[in-house]
Formats: sequence, structure tokens, C-alpha cells
Amino acid sequence: MDKLAIIGGRELYGELEISGAKNSALKVMVASLLTADALTLTNVPDLADVRQLLVLLDNHGVEIDRDGATLRLKAKEITSTTAPYEIVRKMRASFNVLGPLLAREGEARVSLPGGCAIGARPVDLHLKALEAMGAQIELEEGYVVASAKQGLRGARVSFPFVSVGATEHSMMAATLAEGVTTLENAAREPEIVDLADCLNAMGARVEGAGTSTITIHGVAALHGATHDVLPDRIEMGSYAMAVGAAGGELLLKRGRMSLLGAADGILAEAGLTLTDEPDGLRVTKWGRPTKGTNVHTEPFPGFPTDLQAQYMALMALADGTSVIRETIFENRYMHAPELMRLGANIHVDGQTATVRGVKSLRGAPVMATDLRASMSLVIAGLSAEGQTFISRLYHLDRGFERLDKKLQSVGALVERVPDTD
Ligand code: UD1
Repeated sequence: MDKLAIIGGRELYGELEISGAKNSALKVMVASLLTADALTLTNVPDLADVRQLLVLLDNHGVEIDRDGATLRLKAKEITSTTAPYEIVRKMRASFNVLGPLLAREGEARVSLPGGCAIGARPVDLHLKALEAMGAQIELEEGYVVASAKQGLRGARVSFPFVSVGATEHSMMAATLAEGVTTLENAAREPEIVDLADCLNAMGARVEGAGTSTITIHGVAALHGATHDVLPDRIEMGSYAMAVGAAGGELLLKRGRMSLLGAADGILAEAGLTLTDEPDGLRVTKWGRPTKGTNVHTEPFPGFPTDLQAQYMALMALADGTSVIRETIFENRYMHAPELMRLGANIHVDGQTATVRGVKSLRGAPVMATDLRASMSLVIAGLSAEGQTFISRLYHLDRGFERLDKKLQSVGALVERVPDTD
């Protein structure tokens, strides 16, 4: 296994290409199960999570053709409606095959994903929505066994709180349901809009994606389509914060400010300059120190939980104090003790972290604990004096395409080295 070696203290200059969004790619790939025709996806990032989902789609009989960032998926025939534990447990997003399999085949047996490093993450909202659409659901030996022999039917689903996964899952299942489905208190993330665009290109009738109420008029069948995956706003925000911490100027190609939601104002308040340009988002940070600013995570367009760890790294070197409140996941501060190994001054109390900015961080060996937390260590390492080694790189490989190469191309001293410990 590799670890990442970073020599900090170099400003970042140049251009970086933002990859296709992991969280969108995974959902539109699942949408391929809804039709017997080929779905061609472009701008698909080459990530461990994408490869993992391909293993599952292959298990269901999907023909897979990959050429660089273009992926052609054809579920001509569903050969198995079971999504086994051995595959689902490796990546939670796999659970979303349940709705499409049920909608198309009238039955599905999908392993419950189990807990994960950042919290319990139940799937009760997903199941309630499918039940409202007429699915019979039983839990058997760790599996959700669902059937809808007469097909799914349209329903009114009102989510008690916002869930990205449950919104996407219900939206996909409802495309083939009989009648109209209304999703209230739906998630408004750009990935929801991307999935709706893909489904509509496949012949679905989804309206209102990007607002809190989504209406889906069921159709008898979907057909093939080509869809371009939207740029990854979390990757974009992470590199913006890397510039904030290390200094410099980057053009984040294909990026755009609107994908950041409220995060753009927060980053500007912290001292970054963000400008939309025809080719992407330009991020600049020089001269004045970063300012300690407060943040709480929220569903889109609020500040994303997936940028909370990176923001904490940025605040570690800020002038002043920053209070961060995590409201989405219950256990998402595992990066705090690792950042403290680099000299950050952080006090965690329940869901609140108080970060008192320090003058400098010093490199040290640290351990990645989850996907986004790993990126906070990279950002801290880029701004620290001396050398930082980040082990457990597989977390980063799940969600950040060619991270070392991209950073090298803008002047960072970053290298993958064998982890012999
Ligand atoms: C997705 C993203 C993840 C991001 C999260 C929030 C993917 C693959 N992952 O995860 O990167 O951090 O959105 O923006 O797209 N919940 C329940 N019951 C449910 C569903 C969710 O209690 O049935 C809870 C979760 O435990 C969490 C909150 O609702 O506390 C929000 O989760 P959700 O929006 O569903 O996140 P995911 O779709 O899992």
C-alpha cells in the first residue's frame, strides 16, 4: 500500500481540471439498470468507488464498456436481482440499486449497507418511500427483500428531513411507477439535478429537481441516452481550500461558483477571491491572512458536510477563531486529532469544533480516517512546514481522481511512496 509524502510550504499556481462528480456518477450509473438500452456516460472519474460499483452492476448482468472517461452501460437483461453483502458493504451508494431493480423486475434482494466511519447512516427513508409506492419490504438475514409484483405506483412522499440518497433513490424508482409521484422536502443538491437530467434524457418525466418538491410522472419504459456527468463540487471546493491554506492562484477548469452554494460566500469571507471565468473557477489567495469564520453544515445550498473537514484544515492557520458545527453526520470529526498532530488547536465538544488559528503547522505522520477527512490532511500538509506522511491512502483513492498528479502539476511537492510500516 502507498502513503502520500508532502513537503509543505509551496504556493500553488496553474490550472487543474476538475473531474466528474463521484456522487453524481455513482447514481447515473445505477440508473442504467432502468433500461435495456445502452446508457453512455461521459466525464466519469476513474475512482475506486466507480470501479466498485461496476463490480455490482456486472453482478446484475450489465454489459460494461469503458474508454477513458466514457462509460457505456447496457442492462439488456437483469441476470440477478440480488446485491450481495460482500459487494454492498464496500460502498454504501450500492444500496441505491434496490429501487431500480424493483421498478424494472418487480423484486430485489439487496444487502443493508451497515454503518460507516462517519455515522450510523440508516436507510429508513429509502424504504419508507418505496413502501409508499407499493413495495412489500421484509428484512431477512441482513438483506432487504422487496417485491412489487404488480409494479410500483405513484405516491406522495414527504421526507421528515432532507436526504440526498433517499431523494435520488425514490426519484429513480418513480420513473417507472404507474402514475404521479411527488417528493416533498426533497434534497436540492446539484447531483439531484444531474440525475434528473440523465433520467429525462432516458425518457423519464421528472420535474422540479433542484427545488424542494420533485414531481415524477411515471412512464412505461425508459430508453438509452448519453449524459455528461457534472463537475465535482467537492473536489473543486477542496482545491479552493488548498489554495486558501497554501496560497497562490489556480484556475479550476470546468468548475463554477454556483456549484458551491453558500460555500462561496464563506470562502470569500475567509479571504479567498473566487471568480467565474469562461473555462472555470479562478481561486486566488495571497497577502492577507485567512480570517477565522464560523460555519455550520447544511443540505445544499448550505455549506456541505463533505467540505467540513477541509474547511477545518483551512481554519487551523486562520487569524482568529472559527466555530464549526456539523449538523448532518454524528461522528464526522475524526480528522481533528490528526490535524492536532500537525499542531492545530482544535477543541471538539459534541457536534461543535472550535478551531483557534495558529501561526504555523508542522509536518508529521498522520492517518486518513475517511474520504473527505483525508483531503483535510492533504490541505494541512500542503501548508505545514516540513514533511507530512498520510497513510491509508485508499480513502483518498475512493473519491479524488489523480490527486498526486494534479497537485504536482500546480507546483506542490507531493508523491506517492510505498508504505512500509
Ligand atoms: C450523500 C453523499 C455524501 C454526503 C451526503 C450529505 C453520495 C454517494 N454520498 O450521502 O457524500 O455527505 O449525501 O450531503 O452521494 N439518513 C437517515 N435515514 C435515511 C437516509 C439518511 O437517517 O434513510 C440520515 C443520514 O444518516 C444522515 C442524513 O440523513 O445523517 C443525511 O444523509 P443523506 O443525505 O441521505 O446522505 P447520503 O445520501 O448517504
